[in-house]
Parts: sequence; C-alpha cells; structure tokens
Amino acid sequence: MEFITYEQEGFVGVITINRPKALNALNSQVLEELETTFKAVDLDTTRALVLTGAGEKSFVAGADIGEMSTLTKAEGEAFGKKGNDVFRMIETFPIPVIAAINGFALGGGCEISMSCDIRLCSDNAVFGQPEVGLGITPGFGGTQRLARLVGEGMAKQMIYTARNIKADEAYRIGLVNAVYSASTDEAGNEVSAQANLLAAAKKMAAGIAMNAPIAVRNCKKAINEGMQVDMDKAIVIEEKLFGDCFETADQQAGMGNFLEKDKEKKLKVVPFQNK
Ligand code: CAA
Repeated sequence: MEFITYEQEGFVGVITINRPKALNALNSQVLEELETTFKAVDLDTTRALVLTGAGEKSFVAGADIGEMSTLTKAEGEAFGKKGNDVFRMIETFPIPVIAAINGFALGGGCEISMSCDIRLCSDNAVFGQPEVGLGITPGFGGTQRLARLVGEGMAKQMIYTARNIKADEAYRIGLVNAVYSASTDEAGNEVSAQANLLAAAKKMAAGIAMNAPIAVRNCKKAINEGMQVDMDKAIVIEEKLFGDCFETADQQAGMGNFLEKDKEKKLKVVPFQNK
C-alpha cells in the first residue's frame, strides 16, 4: 500500500488516507487501495472503523483533478463508477465507519465522508462540492447523499453555488455530528484539534465496540435499508433484524445480566461475544 495505512487498536481499525502531496486527493490507485483495505478488515476482531486523512490540513481534497482532466466521456463514467462502488462498499460495510474529518473535505472528500455512518470534524474542516466550478457534477455520490443528509434545498444550494462551508455551518446543517477544537491538557501542553478529533473518533468507535456486535450490525443494516423504502416495508426490515438478535449469546447475556442485577457479571461479559 502506497497511500493507505491501517492500524488496529483493540476492536477498532483506523484507516488513514495518506497522500499528503496532493492533500489526500483520490486517484484511481487510492480508490483501489481503499477497496483492498476495507476488504481485508478482519470482521471477527474488528467492530468499528475510523476513516481519516493524514496531516492536519486535509481530510481529502477531492477526486484527483489531474487524473480527471484528460478523461473521455466513457472514462469519466467509469471513474465515477469506481468511486461510487468503493463508497457504496463503505456505506454498506457490515460494521460502523466513523469519518474523522481533519481539514478539507471537498468534492470526493465530502462524498467519502457521507458514505460513512458518522461524521466528526476538527474546527478547521471545510466542506463543499466545488465540482460545477470545474465543469462537472459531483460524481462519487454527492448529488444523492448530500440531499439525503442535509435536505434537498441546502444540498442544491451547496452544489449549485460550489460554495464551501466551514465546520460550524456543517454542524448547523447536520452534516457533521460534532466539531473538535485544540485544547490544553493537564500538564499545560497544547493538544491540537486533530488530536482531539482522532481521540474522540476512536473513543466513540471503542464505545460502539463494547456493545453487542450482531445487534450493532443489524442496526446499521436496518437504518440503511429502511431509509430506502417506505415505512411499511421499513418496519418489516426492522422486525426481521430484531428477531435475528434473539438467541444470540449477546442477547441472552445482556438481558440476563439486567434481570439478575449482577453488575460484576455484566462487567465480565463485556465486550459481548460474536455468536
Ligand atoms: N486533485 C489533485 N491534486 C490536488 C487536489 C485535487 N483534488 N487538491 C489539491 N491538490 C494538490 C495541488 O495541486 C497541490 O499540488 P502541487 O503542490 O503539486 O501543486 C497540492 O495538492 C497542494 O494544494 P494547493 O497548493 O492548492 O493548496 P492550497 O492550500 O493553496 O489550497 C485547496 C487547498 C483549497 C484544497 C486547493 O488545493 C483546492 O481547491 N483543491 C481542489 C479542491 C476540489 O476542487 N475538489 C473537488 C475535485 S472534483 C471531485 O471531487 C469530483 C467528484 O465528485 C468525484
């Protein structure tokens, strides 16, 4: 891997896009390596992922403009499909993926963050879909996911104007769940916004990993699949996935502990088993 690093911390995997010379822009090789990295995640030992970009300046500054500049119509469509396939794989990945957005999240950068389950960012983050300024449409899902996340009107405004927004506005419109700033630790040392962001993302991922993994996966599936259909069909999806949890070791241990009011035992069975 030239542009992606993977680190395992307990049940949490941290995937870092590392192409600092191009502000972590997504070329074909980065997309291929991302796909390979996700497919190699050991789902028996990993319960949540954090996706971030190397450096403090940029999460991902978009799809690679140099590579796109010479594409034909057919090649452009194929490049869009490649990005869409990888991002859809992330969106439907069995375990939760948290985007830790450190700096620029433009074009494909905003789009990859939207394929993640949860977005957290540093206070220097900048979001936008600048594509129409480059003579193209958003091509890695931006026209679809942005409207679903922040509503049609705000998505159209961002996409048509190609105007970037800062972290506080991204928070206000619901594009990100939380914004992290620099702070000072107990010893008086400055902790950067990016360090606080990454720590918070890992902490959230580790917290998710302490819950019943089959139940968490089923929640992701229920929300993702249910959001695509009408409510009558959506609640049937939920019923099936709810039912699937019964008779798992997690359900028996989790409910048994509650009923026995046995705090010690509760601690012993956490983290839950897979089967
Ligand atoms: N593709 C290729 N290279 C990129 C890039 C991108 N999307 N974004 C930045 N880079 C490269 C720059 O070319 C530059 O390389 P060199 O040092 O070799 O010249 C390097 O990263 C640093 O960038 P800048 O010097 O421009 O840094 P800056 O601080 O002055 O500006 C920036 C930062 C505002 C993010 C600016 O780089 C920028 O506007 N980048 C392009 C953002 C963009 O338009 N993204 C959308 C791409 S289209 C897309 O993503 C389509 C899609 O939906 C699939």
